[in-house]
Amino acid sequence: MHRNLASLLVVLAASFPGQASEIPPLTGSYNVGASKHVIDFYNPKDPFAPHNISTGFMATLFYPTLQRPCSSCRPYLQPETAGLMEKAWNFTQGTLAAMTTAHVQWDAPWLPLKETRLPMPTLVFGPGGGGPPVECYTMILTELASRGYIVAGLDHPFEQPFIRWPNGTGQYGLPADYDGIDERLYGIMHDMRVNETLRFVEAWPELARSLGVPHANHAGFLESTAVGVFGHSLGGAAAIGAAARASHQVIASALSLDGGVLNKTDLARPVMNLGQQATVDPSFNPEWTEFARLQTGWMRAFSVEGTEHHDFDDGAFWKLSGGTSFGAIDGMRQLELMNTYLATFFNETMVREGGGLKDSILEEETPEWPEVHIVQRNR
Ligand SMILES: *[C@@H]1O[C@H](CO)[C@@H](O)[C@H](O)[C@H]1NC(C)=O
Ligand SMILES: *[C@@H]1O[C@H](CO)[C@@H](O)[C@H](O)[C@H]1NC(C)=O
Ligand SMILES: *[C@@H]1O[C@H](CO)[C@@H](O)[C@H](O)[C@H]1NC(C)=O
Ligand SMILES: *[C@@H]1O[C@H](CO)[C@@H](O)[C@H](O)[C@H]1NC(C)=O
Ligand SMILES: *[C@@H]1O[C@H](CO)[C@@H](O)[C@H](O)[C@H]1NC(C)=O
Ligand SMILES: *[C@@H]1O[C@H](CO)[C@@H](O)[C@H](O)[C@H]1NC(C)=O
Repeated sequence: MHRNLASLLVVLAASFPGQASEIPPLTGSYNVGASKHVIDFYNPKDPFAPHNISTGFMATLFYPTLQRPCSSCRPYLQPETAGLMEKAWNFTQGTLAAMTTAHVQWDAPWLPLKETRLPMPTLVFGPGGGGPPVECYTMILTELASRGYIVAGLDHPFEQPFIRWPNGTGQYGLPADYDGIDERLYGIMHDMRVNETLRFVEAWPELARSLGVPHANHAGFLESTAVGVFGHSLGGAAAIGAAARASHQVIASALSLDGGVLNKTDLARPVMNLGQQATVDPSFNPEWTEFARLQTGWMRAFSVEGTEHHDFDDGAFWKLSGGTSFGAIDGMRQLELMNTYLATFFNETMVREGGGLKDSILEEETPEWPEVHIVQRNR
């Protein structure tokens, strides 16, 4: 369907709160399964947890499956999350709660090994600081899974406005419109996210084996194959921070969606930022510029015209149904843009033989995406 027609239909379907509207279909060659897991991790200095002690965080996996979705849709967000985000971002009550999907298949079987196209890399994702939680990036993460990635989104309890643990217990955290994150707290949140990302990477081979991930038992696949990391906002800064603490055999590449950077150090591996001009353009943000100057590996910063911070989460789609604090870019266009740039970067840094990054939209600006500008590059 033509893009503009598709978004028009979405707007029409979504402009009646309470009336179900389905999130966009997947374009990759796989269907997508999902599962939630608690990763044990003792932290006695957690600024958000009761008595400052947290004992674990939550990983949501999105992965390729052959199982076909049944035709019935269900809400794509937890009702608590939908309610909190509607209020914080000025949506008519019930708008987000009414959004549905059939393509997120909880606990669907993993692919049989013979159907698994290798490599099937693992990507680790971090959401924005203080929210929104991982489920509010479902569209972006499931699209990558449909293209052959295993994606693990990590939620820190008590920091995210709401998460539902695998056992069904709901956990509230910071208010969804919390504005009390000062520089000190931001630094602690960053380091906590970095620690949790590294903890996940360490725990993943064992978890994968216990889940029956098809290639988990073959030729040391997981042990010898690096993950890619990415995230939005604080999650993007922490993706870069995690790469700084790990060798390139552990974390092969890092991508930030409209995020800053705290640990300004040479990653010596591919790193990119896709964001609004205020975040990635050197004349606006000296912080990212200083980091960029240090890179000896491949580095790019792309600014996207017409975007604001929450165009880099599922808000890009939500805004077709109202809300405030989004940029002027068409929501369906922005989703397609993110899907394309994310998949290209990870295809070229995680999949392609000999580590590509050649002949692609990452090398030069392209007439296909005139709203995307390369604002920093080092080769
Ligand atoms: C928990 O951590 C916060 C932030 O670091 C601190 O202000 C608070 O005093 C701590 N509370 C306890 C009970 O340790
Ligand atoms: C929601 O609307 C209020 C009142 O117009 C405004 O002050 C606030 O900034 C809006 N929130 C967002 C996230 O845009
Ligand atoms: C559910 O799991 C969470 C995280 O492990 C735990 O904190 C909570 O106590 C559990 N709830 C119940 C009712 O067992
Ligand atoms: C992160 O882990 C290191 C040890 O690896 C620890 O010293 C530090 O306190 C942790 N940071 C936070 C914020 O939990
Ligand atoms: C910053 O990166 C360096 C590696 O360049 C690493 O040694 C250091 O631990 C990192 N700092 C933090 C606070 O994570
Ligand atoms: C990335 O690779 C997957 C699997 O080969 C393919 O479906 C997808 O079209 C590729 N995407 C891009 C943007 O290169």
